[in-house]
Amino acid sequence: MATATTQTNKREAFGSRNVFILSAIGSAVGLGNIWRFPYVAYEGGGGAFLIPYLCALLTAGIPLLFFDYAIGHRFRGSAPLAFRRMHRSAETLGWWQVLICVVISVYYAVIIAWSAMYTWFSAQLTWGPGNENDFFFVDFLQSADVAETGVSTQFVPQVGVPLIVVWLAVIVIMCLGVKKGIGRANMILMPLLTVMFAVLVVQSLFLPGALDGLNAFFTPNWEALADPAVWASAYGHIFFSLSVAFGIMVTYASYLKRKTDLTGSGLVVAFANSGFEILAGIGVFAALGFMAQAQGTEVAGVASSGIGLAFIAFPTIVSQATGGSIIGVLFFGALVFAGVTSLISILEVIVAALQDKLGWKRIRTTLTVSLPLAVISMALFSTTTALSVLDTADAFVNAFGIMAVALVAVIVVAWLLHRLPALKDHLNRRSSFPVGWIWMLLVGALAPLVLGYLFVSELIAKITTPYGGYPAWFLGVFGWGMVISLVILAILLSLLPWSGRSHAKDDVDYDEFLAQEHYDPDPETSAIPVSIDEQRGAAS
Ligand code: ALA
Repeated sequence: MATATTQTNKREAFGSRNVFILSAIGSAVGLGNIWRFPYVAYEGGGGAFLIPYLCALLTAGIPLLFFDYAIGHRFRGSAPLAFRRMHRSAETLGWWQVLICVVISVYYAVIIAWSAMYTWFSAQLTWGPGNENDFFFVDFLQSADVAETGVSTQFVPQVGVPLIVVWLAVIVIMCLGVKKGIGRANMILMPLLTVMFAVLVVQSLFLPGALDGLNAFFTPNWEALADPAVWASAYGHIFFSLSVAFGIMVTYASYLKRKTDLTGSGLVVAFANSGFEILAGIGVFAALGFMAQAQGTEVAGVASSGIGLAFIAFPTIVSQATGGSIIGVLFFGALVFAGVTSLISILEVIVAALQDKLGWKRIRTTLTVSLPLAVISMALFSTTTALSVLDTADAFVNAFGIMAVALVAVIVVAWLLHRLPALKDHLNRRSSFPVGWIWMLLVGALAPLVLGYLFVSELIAKITTPYGGYPAWFLGVFGWGMVISLVILAILLSLLPWSGRSHAKDDVDYDEFLAQEHYDPDPETSAIPVSIDEQRGAAS
């Protein structure tokens, strides 16, 4: 039996299970729900999209949410540390997720900054009636074509200044730590967001033409179901929306007390998140119904896709509706609050990983992580070519990269390391909703099959049709280059040694750790070997 150590390092923890649930909902409910879901659903066949969406939620979203919870909670570490504790060679998976968060965080902050400005513009109707499109692209973003200008360095102050404010706000929250920063921010922002959003949806439903919008949103286009891209977008969306497969839930679950009902918490989070995004779809399409009626056209004619839905269609609605400014302030304010609570969870993946690897204190790690990210975010996204870079990074790293890391993670954990039975047992130790062979089948068999199919289809689609019509060099750098370099960097990071000061190095009684029933340490400590397999070697 290995020698037990007396050394224990404090690991941060959420104040209570409810704060964790609220924070996990805060992470899940983000721009994805409000800014992304309505157009993903609309493009994916309206009402018919609910089928791939529900399939994705039940067969991949919730099972993988449990999977993330089990890994984070069982191995009590940031993504790289948790995967490393599972098996030394799995550490790369954790870094891959961390790097995905690096990319997402730098553009996610920009959309929050745009939304903050639009909250202000809504109150003044700054764009002027009928000028919403030009206002967004020309006056606000000062968008330039990358094919003509290359990646620009021309600073756009009305984007750059709010972007600095967003970064400062999240850096302060992150420096305060898990309990006082992340937990408290969610305790304040989530109730506010819920009230604002409920008022917004009710107000939208009373707009003339709202019913037409709802019909357009819910009327199924069954043909869309035959398109693999629609299924890919449902699965891609559910990962992003639930914040699974990119390290967030692994990290958050590592801050939970030992005796926590994991699956019960997961179901609350998953259904709250889906409820929120379906509500967002209803609110947005009710408003679009009004817009169509006001312009004497079909909803199909006004529901633009992508960013245009939020930043062009919505301002048009704000201009035309009675009390439009209130709708605008509520809508864009909700985007800011939902965005901030998600951005802090994305950043926490990076901060926690470096804290574990380097053994640094919270504030030092937060500043070391956040300041360079803020500078990159400013350099790339407060310039005139921000939109193209954002669009490409989102399409590749988000829709494509998250799917890839999810696929590799389930294959490695289920098929190479055979850890699903142990994770299942861990979930069942305290949970109100027991999981069994169905969960293992979904994670170990269905998820890899579906993800594998979707991954290959996406790969072929992205190879055969240059995304967004951007120049090849541009897609090479910000699309393919980014996706591939994340994997290479992840491998390099996993080769770097763990700091001697890191609590990952603690030497503990490994036999005790393996004996699940006896393993119930103080919830605020993290005295677990850096890798089960290393310790197994040491113990024998
Ligand atoms: N889950 C977050 C969102 O939906 C990242 O935006």
